[in-house]
Amino acid sequence: MNQKTKVVVLVSGGGSNLQSLIDACATGKINAEISMVISNRPNVLALERAEKAGINAICIDHKAFETREEFEASLSKKIDEAAPELIVLAGFMRILTDDFVNKYLGKMLNIHPSLLPKYPGLNTHQRAIDAGDDVHGASVHFVSPVLDGGPIILRAQVPIFNNDNAVELAARVVVQEHMIYPLVVGWFCSGRLKMKDGFAMLDNKRLEEKGYASD
Ligand code: GRF
Repeated sequence: MNQKTKVVVLVSGGGSNLQSLIDACATGKINAEISMVISNRPNVLALERAEKAGINAICIDHKAFETREEFEASLSKKIDEAAPELIVLAGFMRILTDDFVNKYLGKMLNIHPSLLPKYPGLNTHQRAIDAGDDVHGASVHFVSPVLDGGPIILRAQVPIFNNDNAVELAARVVVQEHMIYPLVVGWFCSGRLKMKDGFAMLDNKRLEEKGYASD
């Protein structure tokens, strides 16, 4: 059996995506070890989930720092102590500076609740409804200095039904998130997925701009 890939997961809230990764590691679907979970907010469910799984779980509260740079210096120190091969942002709700992102370029993944490049930023579900879209979804991408703008790896699509509200739509999207995130993390951990020259590469082939199997 190959060595497990060391992963650090950054969270801010409920941690349902973290749970899907914990479960995928436990069943062997992903050949990885989540060595640390870091939350920028105290007392969140994500930290409880990590502790329950026996993972080192810590909070670095961004509110305790004067500047974004000081917060990130502390975050970076903890990450580097864990020496992960992959950093996974799972519902992590802080904007990261270019310096931080560039330091971990090619080894940091994010999941975003929209069909990127549509709707980077917040309130994606309501924005899709307000725009009258009939489809919505989630995207996994490498993190680059452009907010929610790094190379897309995989997207999952769901329908938007008449009279959907944002809560109903978010619930439909998150089910897909729990399928695509472990899949993509698994690709990375088995060495199939890389970022090269600003592109996502799977099995040494450049992925389409909208990710694997885009139509
Ligand atoms: C997910 O839609 C994630 O994409 C977004 O926050 C939502 C909740 O994530 N950024 P989780 O339950 O904390 O994983």
